[in-house]
Amino acid sequence: MPLLRVLAACALILTATAASRADPIVIKFSHVVAIDTPKGQAAVKFKQLAEQYTNNKVRIEIYPNSQLYKDKEELEALQLGSVQMLAPSLAKFGPLGAKEFEAFDLPCLFPDYQGLHRITQGDIGKGLLKRLESKGIIGLAYWDNGFKIFSANRPLKTVDDFKGLKMRVQSSKVLEAQMRALRAIPQVMPFSEVYQALQTGVVDGTENPPSNMYTQKMFEVQKNATLSDHGYLGYAVIVNKDFWEKLPADVRTGLEKAMTEATTYNNDIAAKDNDSALEAMKASGKTDFYQPSTEERAALCKAMEPVYEEMQSRIGAELIASIRKEAGSIVQGMK
Ligand code: LMR
Repeated sequence: MPLLRVLAACALILTATAASRADPIVIKFSHVVAIDTPKGQAAVKFKQLAEQYTNNKVRIEIYPNSQLYKDKEELEALQLGSVQMLAPSLAKFGPLGAKEFEAFDLPCLFPDYQGLHRITQGDIGKGLLKRLESKGIIGLAYWDNGFKIFSANRPLKTVDDFKGLKMRVQSSKVLEAQMRALRAIPQVMPFSEVYQALQTGVVDGTENPPSNMYTQKMFEVQKNATLSDHGYLGYAVIVNKDFWEKLPADVRTGLEKAMTEATTYNNDIAAKDNDSALEAMKASGKTDFYQPSTEERAALCKAMEPVYEEMQSRIGAELIASIRKEAGSIVQGMK
């Protein structure tokens, strides 16, 4: 090869290398929780692994704590391509037209983590993610947070204690129905506004796993909480389909490997994180945590039972039945 052509080829390679170093593909990953939550930490883990496995061809920019977008806005931003990756809670997929995900909000549905994981890591979970494709979205994984507890400024031991309370919920019709079944008044509100709404009395109470309650300092403005574990809160990590499919194949493979490992990491730390958040809140002495008896919890579940029938046409009777069967649901208080 003539020297000039060799030099030209070398220059091309050098330019390409420099360009790939200088211009990594940027993935903006937006979420609404604090960094020291299961999702916050798993996002950081994913960033480290993704950059490593793609040889820095990708740069993940994480925007936690609703810094960039609140709940509803982030979904719009994903569809518009302003962000590429999100991990919204499964309760927030309704506005995307994926109402089936609200099945995860059904009260007292999952008997334990094993039953839950048979759904999120099994065929039913995969099938649900697949349905997002028609909305221009790819679902990559499910990440756990944990089981929710109720909180307010009065003890919540019996169903009557909920009567008339304004309770903040995520944007899920199932959660609205759940609060109405307890004769409380549901108020849909973005996560980023909950602390202030509780502080100023715009709402009286809410529900969340301990990790969210702790890291958003809700425990400072809630005198009482009931360790009801009455519902699940988890996430689906999602990406814009167009963006994902246009990625070079080797990059996608690296990202998939990183996601698999970040998912394992998330699901390993989630329960522990929630336990330590609960301990920290107990130690603060600001909130009184009540452990309901089996009978008290069953009475709450029983009161929320009508939600299943009410939401059947929204979610699909078949889907509810198959989740219940696979999860080994023994909804306490249900027939
Ligand atoms: C909430 O809005 O309460 C949660 O979905 C926040 C989150 O992402 O965990």
